[in-house]
Amino acid sequence: MRKPIIAGNWKMNKTPKEAKELVEALKPLVKDAKASVVVCVPAVDIAAAVEAAKGSKIAVGAQNVHFKESGAYTGELSADMIKAAGATYVIIGHSERRQYFGETDETVNLRTVAAVNAGLNPIICVGENKAQREAGYTDALVEYQTLIALTGLTPAQIKKVVIAYEPVWAIGTGLTATDEQANETIGVIRKAIARKYGKGVANAVRIQYGGSMKPSNVKGLMAQEEIDGGLIGGASLKAEDFAKVVNYED
Ligand code: 13P
Repeated sequence: MRKPIIAGNWKMNKTPKEAKELVEALKPLVKDAKASVVVCVPAVDIAAAVEAAKGSKIAVGAQNVHFKESGAYTGELSADMIKAAGATYVIIGHSERRQYFGETDETVNLRTVAAVNAGLNPIICVGENKAQREAGYTDALVEYQTLIALTGLTPAQIKKVVIAYEPVWAIGTGLTATDEQANETIGVIRKAIARKYGKGVANAVRIQYGGSMKPSNVKGLMAQEEIDGGLIGGASLKAEDFAKVVNYED
């Protein structure tokens, strides 16, 4: 059985002081969590979040990583730096990076390989926009995004990867994919992994849903067979809300 994983994506929110406060508020609320709990914070908040999370189940992640080990890449952070700051996860290929910062499937793959080689757990984001869904391209697109991202990893490495299926039209819009839509597309992703790497690998990979996931809809989504967790934006910025998502079984 796959262990559920609930991750917050704080996006460009919270100073180090606010990060410390949020993690400290979250700690007692998620102490009995059955799911893995992760907060993916702005890079300048990693140290404060890691310090505040000590002695808890909360793991800290970054929101992007560069694929080179070091060198003349002004403004970038290597996987080793992120790891040394205490993060253990990193979001890769979020649709906002694809939309605003020129992220491509190829750079998602380079970042994934770099993260895995440094010992970070990648959370790789895939998902279609509204036009792509309406045109009937969702399945082909998420299969392609997923398989390119995983290229060059060994089956053992792929088992540890987390995929986040985030339909772009559901992000920050209040619109959510229905439980069945999310389950179906995540099933498509898992079948694509199974075809290429075998059922053993596909059954080990944790695949989250993301897009307006919140306390009021988490239960229905998590009841679906294929959905192993959530990547939460807006509802991860308040300790009480995020804790309700984490403790969805209560
Ligand atoms: P919202 O939960 O705010 O829709 O954001 C989802 C998301 O993009 C998580 O990465």
